[in-house]
Amino acid sequence: MTQPLNDKQRVAHEAVNMIHDGMVVGLGTGSTANYFINELARRCVEGLKIKTVASSIISSNRAQHMGLEIVSMEHLSHIDVYVDGADEVSPSMALLKGRGSDLVREKLLANASNQFLVLVDNSKLVERIGQNYPIPIEVAPFSWELVLASLIKMGGKGGLRPNGDGLAVTSHGSLVLDMTFDPSIDSQSLNDMLNSVPGVVEHGIFEQLATAILIGENEQVTQIT
Ligand code: 5RP
Repeated sequence: MTQPLNDKQRVAHEAVNMIHDGMVVGLGTGSTANYFINELARRCVEGLKIKTVASSIISSNRAQHMGLEIVSMEHLSHIDVYVDGADEVSPSMALLKGRGSDLVREKLLANASNQFLVLVDNSKLVERIGQNYPIPIEVAPFSWELVLASLIKMGGKGGLRPNGDGLAVTSHGSLVLDMTFDPSIDSQSLNDMLNSVPGVVEHGIFEQLATAILIGENEQVTQIT
């Protein structure tokens, strides 16, 4: 018997309907992105002809395992569509991402793509960025203490993200600061502020990058553009 689709699977399948022959497709990271990769691979077996570029080693491994054609990022100057999940989505379509460890690649793909489709269930919709999660901020290992001091001066609170007995390290060797800020600061101002701090490699606010949000709720998919 076929299992009914959950909300994340439903949005992932809807997103695959938006992929056409000849496209270069960026693959996100996380459970929703995995549903997208699975369904995309199934459609390719049925004859869809596309190339993919992955936002993380884990997504690249999955895509390879599923038989998708993968191009490495350094050989691409253009991406048609990037499809990924998010941790939070605000009413103005700002996103918070980065519970994974590949923020730099994720933002590069989101920025370079003609379209950035964000796949979420309604649990990800928030009134303001930072409502449910701290803001992940990637820092070069030698700079974390100085960056933390700058962020504290800006009113931030937080510290290095732990991982078991050690510290979380991103795929290219950065450490991650998980920080909270005054809730009255809007995401655009926070984005501009974090972009201006020397030593910050990347951060999890994706401001004005999403072109469409696909939201799964009560067995329906709604789209905001
Ligand atoms: C990884 C991300 C993910 O897209 C985000 O955490 C959502 O994950 P999921 O689809 O598993 O809910 O930003 O860095």
